[in-house]
Amino acid sequence: MSKLWGGRFEKETDRAVEIFTASIGVDERLWQVDIVGSIAHVRMLGQQGIISLPESQEIIRGLKSVQEDIASDLAAGKVTFRAEAEDIHSEVERLLTEKIGPVAGKLHTARSRNDQVATDSRLYLRDQVAAVQKDILVLQNWLITTAEKHTETVLPGLTHMQHAQPVSLAHHLMAYFWMFQRDAERFTDSLKRINVLPLGSAALAGTSFPLDREAVARDLGFASVSENSLDAVSDRDFVVEFLSGASLMMMHLSRMAEELILWSTPEFGFVRLDDSVTTGSSIMPQKKNPDVAELIRGKVGRVYGALMGALTLLKALPLAYNRDLQEDKTFLFEGLDTVHSSLKLMTLMLSSAYFDTERMSGALKGDFSNATDLADDLVVHGMTFRQAHEVTGRIVRFCIEANVGIEDLSLAELQQFSPLFTDSILAKVKPVAVMQARTSAGGTGTKAVLEQIAKARKVVKAVVTLA
Ligand code: ARG
Repeated sequence: MSKLWGGRFEKETDRAVEIFTASIGVDERLWQVDIVGSIAHVRMLGQQGIISLPESQEIIRGLKSVQEDIASDLAAGKVTFRAEAEDIHSEVERLLTEKIGPVAGKLHTARSRNDQVATDSRLYLRDQVAAVQKDILVLQNWLITTAEKHTETVLPGLTHMQHAQPVSLAHHLMAYFWMFQRDAERFTDSLKRINVLPLGSAALAGTSFPLDREAVARDLGFASVSENSLDAVSDRDFVVEFLSGASLMMMHLSRMAEELILWSTPEFGFVRLDDSVTTGSSIMPQKKNPDVAELIRGKVGRVYGALMGALTLLKALPLAYNRDLQEDKTFLFEGLDTVHSSLKLMTLMLSSAYFDTERMSGALKGDFSNATDLADDLVVHGMTFRQAHEVTGRIVRFCIEANVGIEDLSLAELQQFSPLFTDSILAKVKPVAVMQARTSAGGTGTKAVLEQIAKARKVVKAVVTLA
């Protein structure tokens, strides 16, 4: 078919220009929302008497039938869209024209591809955000359920990558739960700004036809209509906002991936990843590598890159629509695809992971991560914390020289450093007791963690009802 805009041109477009300007390879995935948006537009055109009702009904029927054709072609693995098409909007109109003839030409009344593509992107992203939130929720559910099983499992909590104080595995896992919770909430919040209808802005200035934009918004489930047509066709804030939320989310995933990589080294040995989610080496027969975790860590670069790309694209762009904006979808889809696959693979990898709880508690033996509790005990018996810190430091130094842990000392040995120690200290320095003692709100003690988990369960429910 000739172009949507052939009339004023005397010469054919250079093939290289066609290839350079085409976006069908990227925006073809918008086919469904493009049709849905067109149906709402043409229904309104009919209701407003801008085109006749029978014409509007015929076009709607045609669009629905194009929709079915594309769906069944895709299901059968048949190529539907022509490689030489300019973009998905012209391609859908071509398919519609093939189906119903010249009346298809009325579809684009009072509309431009400028407000059309902005509408399509928002419709698409709205669904995708809900899908990302579901992916997050699956991961969060795994975190909660696994945390519930490990409220008594202790491992070294680290600061500066040095053993600091014991924490429970539940507490460690729940730390990630809250990161992903903030990510999910950020996405929910962004829906407010995504879910605004640009259609009706036409090319840039609005239109002289008596549109009912509110009706289209209701039909498509948009919460409001855009207030300024120039803004509506050139705004891609929602793309940047999504990619920025996605970048934060990927950053959280990368921290988790990094810890899994670290934990699966022989030096740590805290986790064993399943054969089904690890890979081997072409030369070293013994290898079992955490490639999935490494790739999640690596793919963060794509999403940061997409965010930078989108910001750069928009910088200093004059009003209103400019073709530069076509590039936004490359970034948006790259971000979306990476987020989906990374979340799914992280959950898959975790679901089959084996946590070696013996290795975790074993790592606490003689590691002095109970030193704070020794000092705290002296404080309870009346010593200032500074003094207690000094005394405990001397005990640690003694232990290092004697090659023993604090928990190996007898009461008599401890009392040589301070007469304030009593019998009860021996139980207090055991790793599980050290962890249990941290009952402050948000702390690692089992009681506090169980409260945390109960809150998490509530919060997760609240997100589901929103989505
Ligand atoms: N493929 C274009 C895009 O994604 C659609 C809008 C084209 N508009 C135009 N005036 N050339 O931005």
